[in-house]
Amino acid sequence: MKVLKALPGKHWLSEYDGSDSYDWKEAEHYFSWATTGKVNMAYEAIDRHAEGERANKKALIYFDGTTEQTFTYADMKRLTNKAANVLKDAGIQAGDRIFIFMPRSPELYFALLGALKVGAIVGPLFEAFMEQAVRDRLLDSEAKMLITTKALLPRVPVDELTSLEQIFLVDEEIKTNEKISDFRVAFEQASDVFEPVWLDREDGLILHYTSGSTGKPKGVLHVQNAMIQHMMTGRWVLDLQEEDVYWCTADPGWVTGTSYGIFAPFLNGATNVVVGGRFNPDFWYSVIEKYKVTVWYSAPTAFRMLMGAGAEIANTHDLSSLRHVLSVGEPLNPEVIRWGKEAFDQRIHDTWWMTETGAMMICNYKSMDIKPGSMGKPIPGTQAAIVDDQGNELPPFRMGNLALKTPWPSMMRQIWNNPQKYDSYFFKGWYVSGDSAYMDDEGYFWFQGRVDDVIMTAGERVGPFEVESRLVEHPAVAEAGVIGKPDPVRGEIIKAFISLRDGYEPTEELKQEIQKFVKEGLAAHAAPREIDFRDKLPKTRSGKIMRRVLKAWELNLEAGDLSTMED
Ligand code: WTA
Repeated sequence: MKVLKALPGKHWLSEYDGSDSYDWKEAEHYFSWATTGKVNMAYEAIDRHAEGERANKKALIYFDGTTEQTFTYADMKRLTNKAANVLKDAGIQAGDRIFIFMPRSPELYFALLGALKVGAIVGPLFEAFMEQAVRDRLLDSEAKMLITTKALLPRVPVDELTSLEQIFLVDEEIKTNEKISDFRVAFEQASDVFEPVWLDREDGLILHYTSGSTGKPKGVLHVQNAMIQHMMTGRWVLDLQEEDVYWCTADPGWVTGTSYGIFAPFLNGATNVVVGGRFNPDFWYSVIEKYKVTVWYSAPTAFRMLMGAGAEIANTHDLSSLRHVLSVGEPLNPEVIRWGKEAFDQRIHDTWWMTETGAMMICNYKSMDIKPGSMGKPIPGTQAAIVDDQGNELPPFRMGNLALKTPWPSMMRQIWNNPQKYDSYFFKGWYVSGDSAYMDDEGYFWFQGRVDDVIMTAGERVGPFEVESRLVEHPAVAEAGVIGKPDPVRGEIIKAFISLRDGYEPTEELKQEIQKFVKEGLAAHAAPREIDFRDKLPKTRSGKIMRRVLKAWELNLEAGDLSTMED
């Protein structure tokens, strides 16, 4: 196989035949470690371009419907240097964990890249997180610093976070606590010259907390080396080329918003559009029209909501700039692909990967035929298979565990503080994903579902255990079991089955109160949209709630083997 450079009018993988023979070493000459042995993501993503031909090229365009701000690569270099100086002066050293908890704004990107310049490991937090979600993550990672806003500060349990030395507020000065200081003042005064802290390839980069079916969210650590795959998938799959205007709709609180909202586009020197504010069909279309977006990476839930909003809205906008549209996060319905062709004359390309994989793994590229409903084929240099529970590869059309041959450049390197958990993902040379799928006779992979109980709601991954734990903190709740219930727009919605403590009545009012309680504790997207009160929940003899039985109740299915269920 030969992976070509993009020739004018061609895409990067014009001759890719789906084989796995790419040698990742071929990509190494792009990065500074090829010459110095050291590397820094922020240097590779920003400074390298600012010091070369892309200095005056637009790097970041921020728009939230009212405010618009544009920064060239040279601007980005200066502004991220300033942020880096602020953090260095505050005592941050390589390997320290800095968390960033704020809505999308240019400052978020300066702070995040500035933190990478000083060699910190960045923990991005989704702005919707509430106190408990923030506490869990900052405690587990022993974060030293938090960068946030005045509005989000009340969700930070400052006194309980013993490792946390400093909180920077990016928007307002308030001095309710000696740990709090004003980022703006320090930023104004900071020098815009900074030498990146040079790191090893295996040094930490980013820590994304994500949910499994049991336990608290786990910290998935990625290292600098992941940039090889960020950059190459930016070419092969996003097909980023010099003139492209690229928009990834994901928030940096999730892995898509960092790997493909920051790293892949900037490593490739693209013009990256960042949109603040809420989803709104008319607004989203107007972004494509206004900036002549050419490459667009979004999620099935968003596409389904756009589809639901109707063709008339799409038709009032000129979407002809689009030349490549991609999707991630949940199964992409063939129906949505058909709609995409009608609404903006593009076939939506599905991509499959996970927080743990760090970058795209199984994708539809421009050079291959899309089979609607399939996630595509493994990217060059990787190998995927369907394996049984013993780790044996299964033949085509047999359903089993979707597994990836280890290692690949952006593979997670640690579950923070939990080596045992980390090891549990790997088996006989495979990383076992937790998804079930099959492969067809042409090597295309077809997603079937999760093996575990993890819920994907509107593209966001929610662990049922986390929601159950919050539910039982409510004084009325005796026990709770949480499942994902199929939903035409959101993929799944969260449904809770609850048994009440004595003295509480199952009223509509109580339902709403409980929903609010989860919202305020975790995040709005983690709150159950539906609640059923039951006298008793199905449990194993050892007392574990059987979500499988709850699911069968909900879907009117056979519950399967009930031998472990208590009487
Ligand atoms: C699901 C998001 C079907 C899957 C980048 C996976 C998908 C989980 C697809 C990871 C797809 C992701 N088709 N399902 N194209 N892409 N998933 O960690 O269940 O938030 O295991 O990463 O999303 O979710 P995560």
